[in-house]
Amino acid sequence: MLTLFPEMFSGYLGQGHLKRAIDAGLVQIELANLRDFGLGRHRQVDDRPYGGGPGMVLMAPVVVECVEAVQSLAQRPAHVVLLTPRGQRLDQKVVEGLAGRERLLLLCGRYEGFDERVRKILQPEEISIGDFVLNGGEVAAMVVIDAVIRLVPGVLGDEDSSRQDSFSGQERRLEHDQYTRPREYRGLSVPEVLLSGDHEAIARWRHEEGLARTKRERSDLLGQNQTEPPPAAPYFD
Ligand code: ADE
Repeated sequence: MLTLFPEMFSGYLGQGHLKRAIDAGLVQIELANLRDFGLGRHRQVDDRPYGGGPGMVLMAPVVVECVEAVQSLAQRPAHVVLLTPRGQRLDQKVVEGLAGRERLLLLCGRYEGFDERVRKILQPEEISIGDFVLNGGEVAAMVVIDAVIRLVPGVLGDEDSSRQDSFSGQERRLEHDQYTRPREYRGLSVPEVLLSGDHEAIARWRHEEGLARTKRERSDLLGQNQTEPPPAAPYFD
């Protein structure tokens, strides 16, 4: 992770599945501070845009040299990902592609964006988590890691649970409804079939419920109604 705010990751990395995966050596996460590659006495990382306009632009030498330093720490180069609203929209397919890589380098921007030469020199894969503008790429990078590590074997307690997730595998659809105790709550009871012990009937019910929910709420996920994603948000990284 390359960022100006490495401390933003500490709470996230210290919890739950991710902490357990790190402790077990299943994933390794290193944070590099772009500020360490800042220029001059003040470790400057950004400057005003040529041609005028609001905000500050991250300087190319700072970003490129930080990436090169991190790349040199391992024998094989990492796949470089730049988080930006200009990028390809993140979905489960993109997540699966990233999970297949041995090493990822996630580049988080701030301010109005990167000097365009960062893209020309590093040729990163550009990923957006949606058509809205965040204050920086850090939260987007956490979204990417969160989705990717679920696919690393051994990270989830139950190997099957990531394969059964919504959007995974061949079928893009929502998951069926889930219930746990109590059997009745505020007049609402658990569907009888789930209490029946009939595994075939339960599987059939879940399949149909998932499909019905998808038709009702996200029909765009189903083949016949596939819509083109809207164009990515303009401007800002
Ligand atoms: N940085 C700022 N906004 C972003 C977004 N929507 N996705 C990824 N990175 C971003």
